[in-house]
Order: sequence, then C-alpha cells, then structure tokens
Amino acid sequence: MSKVLLTGGTGFIGSHTAVELLEQGHEVVIADDLSNSSRDVVNRIEQITGKRPVFYELDVADRKGLAKLFAEQDIEAVIHFAGFKAVGESVVKPLMYYRNNLDTSLTLLETMAEYGCRRIIFSSSSTVYGALSPCPFREDSPVGGCSNPYGWTKFMIEKILQDAARADEQLSVVLLRYFNPVGAHESGLIGEKPGGIPNNLMPYITQVAAGIRDHLNVFGDDYETPDGTGVRDYIHVVDLAKGHVAALGYAETHTGTEIFNLGTGKGTSVMEMIRAFEKANGLQIPYVIAPRRPGDLAYSYAETKKAESVLHWKAEKTIEDMCRDAWRFEKGML
Ligand code: WQD
Repeated sequence: MSKVLLTGGTGFIGSHTAVELLEQGHEVVIADDLSNSSRDVVNRIEQITGKRPVFYELDVADRKGLAKLFAEQDIEAVIHFAGFKAVGESVVKPLMYYRNNLDTSLTLLETMAEYGCRRIIFSSSSTVYGALSPCPFREDSPVGGCSNPYGWTKFMIEKILQDAARADEQLSVVLLRYFNPVGAHESGLIGEKPGGIPNNLMPYITQVAAGIRDHLNVFGDDYETPDGTGVRDYIHVVDLAKGHVAALGYAETHTGTEIFNLGTGKGTSVMEMIRAFEKANGLQIPYVIAPRRPGDLAYSYAETKKAESVLHWKAEKTIEDMCRDAWRFEKGML
C-alpha cells in the first residue's frame, strides 16, 4: 500500500480516484487550490469510504507550499490531475493554459526529485492523438496535431515526463490517455460539476434534463458516421478511477515511461447518447441540430488491448450506467 499525492484531487476524476484508492487501502493526500472544485468534496469522499484524505489547499505551482507538503508527508507516488481543462477557454486564453499546466507540472517534478519521490502517473488525454491517425487510437499511434492549446499542454507535459524518465533511470512515469470520462459515483455524492455553461456533452445533457438549459445543441449531423453525429468513447469515471489504481501498482514495479489508453474501445454517437439517456432515466432531452464545433473529429475511440494485458484492467460499466449515475448526481445538486 502506498501513500499517494493526488494533485487536483477534489476535481471530477481526482475525487473518484481518491475513493477507489482509499477503498483499496492506500493513503491519500490531496493538494487542490479549489479553483474548479469545493472543499466539501473531501467530506463526501470521507462519507463514501469512511476514511478522510489529508487535504492541502494549495496551488501546485506554489513551490514553497508544495515543498512543505512533501516535507510533512512521506509521499511515495503522485497522480497528477491538477490543470485547466476547458478546451474553448484555452483557445481564448492560451498563455494562461500554458503557464498554469506547464508550471504546475514542472514545479511538481522538481519538488518530487528534491524529496526522492520517483513515481508519477499523469492525467493525459486522447486529445494528443489529434487528427493524425484513424481510429482506434493505439498507444503507438502518432501524436500531435492537437486542435487547441489545452491539448498541446497535455502533449508537452507528456514530452517533459518522457524526457525526465530518460534522464533518471529510477523514475517511473505512467501516462494515462483518457477518452471521454462521464458518469458519477453511484452514491450520488461526487460527480462532475462544471462552472458556467458546460463544454462537454454529458453535463450539458444533465443540465437540460434538470431544466437549467432548455435544449441541447447537437454539433453537426453531417459527419461520416452512421447517423452523422460525432462518435466518442465514453468511459464511466469509476472505471477510469480503477484504471489509476492499476497504474499505481504497475508504477511500483517498473521504471521508464509507459503509456496506456483508458477507454472502452466502443464508440457511441451523440444521438445514441441522447437516446440512451432518455431510456435510462425516463426523460425527454429536447435538442436542435447546430453547426459543427470547430476542432471536433468525427470519431475518437481507443484500442484497449494494452491496458487489458499489462494493467489487467478493463472498463466494465455500460452507457446505461453512465447515464443513470450522471443524472443521479445532477438531481442531487438541484
Ligand atoms: C463529445 C461529442 C461533440 C457538447 C473534449 C476534449 C477532450 C477531453 C474531453 C477534457 C462531440 C458533441 C458536445 C454539446 C454536442 N478533455 N457535443 N453538443 O470534444 O470529445 O472531448 O472533452 O478535459 O480533450 O477535447 O468531448 O463531451 O465536448 O463532445 O453535440 O453541447 O458531443 O461535438 O461529438 P470531446 P465533448
């Protein structure tokens, strides 16, 4: 069992990972500046697991604050979730995205080196595959060609981590490329809470269901896909969180860099998702067909064999589970 630091640990994916780690007997320390989450998430993690993670309200780019954390806690491994993640905002404020996402990662790596911590798991994204290769994306498919600064920050941090592992043979780096994480913990206590207008499909659907928005805009119905709408590999956030527990086990026994896709390998279109949500929850989702959103691909889905054979991890939850759990969490917030 390890003592693990989760940067961004009160966020959507971080909080679910904290729950899975605590349930497997790991110790969890969270560092989060609460810029896109709330302190109450720590209470909720405790409510679910019966164990309270240690919490530091901290910007990971704050070198002194981070050093204090490492001096006080005997951190054995880090899962680095902290970062800005709104694609559209990154186009409008690119420097803010590069500064924040790169600064936090560099400060973290330098501080880890100072304190002899040599295991890091990084929250990367399928977005690094860009438009360069056909689906399914494999871990050795070409990367780059990202359509926005957010994606490039993930690409650059992957590169920084790979170079750091090349230079330090004791360093263990695991890059996890997430596909489209959705859903929520089945307790309804933690989930995705976007500030303002949601960028992503599932939180937008749940807000339409809740009456917060009157309809969903379907961004394009003229793609080269079976029903013309975009196809994505949606993965339940609890499955994704379990993937991190598996990656942590892998990092304990391997050095160098290893990359894993975390997806289901199955594509679902926007229209299929609307219908699945309606069926799972007995609701109607009004929608209109709108123009394509710039930068969107027709298809994005994973090749999942590597995570299955090396991490012995596989996503298990269905689209129905994702729709039901996302709605349960949204209802709990009303
Ligand atoms: C899914 C599908 C849209 C909203 C992005 C980032 C990626 C990752 C996850 C996170 C697409 C369509 C969406 C809406 C719609 N980053 N859609 N109406 O674009 O696959 O991935 O989020 O931190 O890096 O690029 O996810 O949920 O935005 O879109 O029709 O209101 O739903 O066009 O086909 P995407 P998404």
